[in-house]
Amino acid sequence: MVKIAVMGYGVVGSGVVEVLTNHTENISRRAKEQISIKYILDLRDFPGSPFESKFTKSFDTILNDPEVRIVVEVMGGLHPSFEYVKACLEAGKSVVTSNKELVAAKGAELLKIAQKNNLNFLFEASVGGGIPIIRPISQCLAANDVVGIAGILNGTTNFILTKMIREQMTFEDALALAQKLGYAERNPAADIEGADACRKICILASLAYGKHVYPEQVHTEGITKITLADVEYAAAWGGVVKLIGQVHALENGKLQIIVCPMFIPRESQLATVDDVFNGIMVRGDSTGDVVFYGKGAGKLPTASAVVADVIDCVKHFKARKYLFWEDGSKDYIEDYRLNTVCMFVRAKADDETLALKNINHIFGSITRLSRKKAESGEIAFVTDCMKEEEILSKLEELKSLGVRVENTIRIGDL
Ligand code: HSE
Repeated sequence: MVKIAVMGYGVVGSGVVEVLTNHTENISRRAKEQISIKYILDLRDFPGSPFESKFTKSFDTILNDPEVRIVVEVMGGLHPSFEYVKACLEAGKSVVTSNKELVAAKGAELLKIAQKNNLNFLFEASVGGGIPIIRPISQCLAANDVVGIAGILNGTTNFILTKMIREQMTFEDALALAQKLGYAERNPAADIEGADACRKICILASLAYGKHVYPEQVHTEGITKITLADVEYAAAWGGVVKLIGQVHALENGKLQIIVCPMFIPRESQLATVDDVFNGIMVRGDSTGDVVFYGKGAGKLPTASAVVADVIDCVKHFKARKYLFWEDGSKDYIEDYRLNTVCMFVRAKADDETLALKNINHIFGSITRLSRKKAESGEIAFVTDCMKEEEILSKLEELKSLGVRVENTIRIGDL
């Protein structure tokens, strides 16, 4: 019998308890041991809960109980999750977490402690919820050099964009609907500003390339500036707008990594990943593209990944699973302005003819886009591909000539 503790009884935590309770027999057959929850840590009271006797408000009770060999951290946030997880690993307990903020900020440090103490620190649920992605990258694709990864990694923003694309809902209305349906947090900033997707691509990049990428190193843009006009222009261009997290290995040993909305061609496998679903494309040098698709969030999908990690921990008490990356470094990430990219530009000008003359003169060849409901003076085009810093400087030149640039969106090469 293996005793475990679950820290946090929110959406994911209650899902973990539910999955462990409802699938006891199958889980013990697969783990070759019975798994029993000894404690559930939460500051709230749950009177009448069938698990009432297991609740504790004291982290120290869990930490100091030698019977507890695995701790599941599903509290979210960085503090006190980091301190708790670190203390558990230092006390000889394996840890399973769904906490992407924790892994993205402190993964290398916690993996090092786990390695030193011959323990497991597993986090399959931290990216893509119920979609298997951490294990496939670290095990199944291990014979490949990962050329790049691109993914729709946030369900909330994908839901919002899908509503904008399919039902011409405004961003504000789609966000309100996402909140009403319980997809978006009451404070949805981490979703719509791209921070959540950023944490996830950081974890995937760290894992695929063996060195920590910290969220603050990644240029991140959310979807708050996307309008229905952009959605219409994307359709006219031949695609859709998606929030993409993308990483590529460069020949100079650095990584190119970014989180931003992109125009994705309709033929791309990611273009049809809609609603709250996530899609992750991993390009291996031997495999070519491998695509993972499924529910990236939600109580039971996420709990399923957490419990699978618990089973793996039980099966690997003696032989540690190899999951590791080293500390990151300051110059590891290429400045995004050095990336070569084609850019969609939506602008307004009082004198459209003059503005077009200037655009053609400054950018050379462009592809103009049109839409039915274009406002007067509205100009939309896609530039040729060039370094982003060059595009930025040309846009400054345009602005100095009276062209008002209202939005720019990168063209995804996916
Ligand atoms: N807020 C996240 C999302 C939850 O919408 O994808 C899962 O990480």
